[in-house]
Amino acid sequence: MEWHPIDTRRLLAETLVARAEEHGCLASTNDRAKEALADGGPLPLLVVARRQTAGRGRGSNRWWTGPGSLAFSLALGPDRLPDDRRQTGLVSLAAAVAVVRAVQPRVEDRTLGIHWPNDVYLEGRKLCGVLIEAPSTGGLIVGVGLNTNNTLDDAPEELRPTAVTLLDITGSTWDSTDALVAVLREFETLLHQIIDQPEEVASAADRLCLQTGRTLTVTSGVNRQTGRCLGIAPDGALLLDTPTDRRAVHGGIVTTESSTHP
Ligand code: BTN
Repeated sequence: MEWHPIDTRRLLAETLVARAEEHGCLASTNDRAKEALADGGPLPLLVVARRQTAGRGRGSNRWWTGPGSLAFSLALGPDRLPDDRRQTGLVSLAAAVAVVRAVQPRVEDRTLGIHWPNDVYLEGRKLCGVLIEAPSTGGLIVGVGLNTNNTLDDAPEELRPTAVTLLDITGSTWDSTDALVAVLREFETLLHQIIDQPEEVASAADRLCLQTGRTLTVTSGVNRQTGRCLGIAPDGALLLDTPTDRRAVHGGIVTTESSTHP
């Protein structure tokens, strides 16, 4: 897949980005963004890489950055973030909602939505993953891996049944600058909304949640919680109806999912 360089000038003019870096190859855009955040300089900073050799996901997940896919991280300073760090979960949901809103026009009425906490699924398979990291020095890194112009023909065998790419579904490519502008504009709107009307962001995510009604197991360390998903709460937590109670789950990894009751 031929790669067209990112139009940095356009990103600076049309999005919240104050500085942008494009790399041919990085271990992980999140790691580079973290390093740059510690070094100082204008923010938000966008780091884009055509290839990652150690793309990371949540928990022990790794991220496959297939040729033609979009891998980027946005380093945000405290001025762009809610004062209450408990709202970081909403920033992570906002990233997933932004991707859904940017992608939906390209896939028309195909099923596109969110798997809590911030995966984007298209036609039942994973299109995008988000990794949020909060360095101890402050600020936030929002890392997004989006399968745009890559194809599963190049993917490791084990990913093929569960992943999806826009190129494979639509047959057409999406200019990387256009894709970044679309996602970042939606994300900026949602970031403002987190400050003014946080419950609106959670409610947008709830409407897009594809797991509602399904039985989920959420794992966090040694703690496992299983229940029927009731959607996403106003603070961004996952709502589970378990055999003992109804509860809000604030963190963890969804390890199993089924369409039946436990
Ligand atoms: C997940 O699915 O668990 C999250 C995947 C996040 C992948 C993106 S790609 C850009 C950024 N850099 C990384 O190393 N990870 C994120």
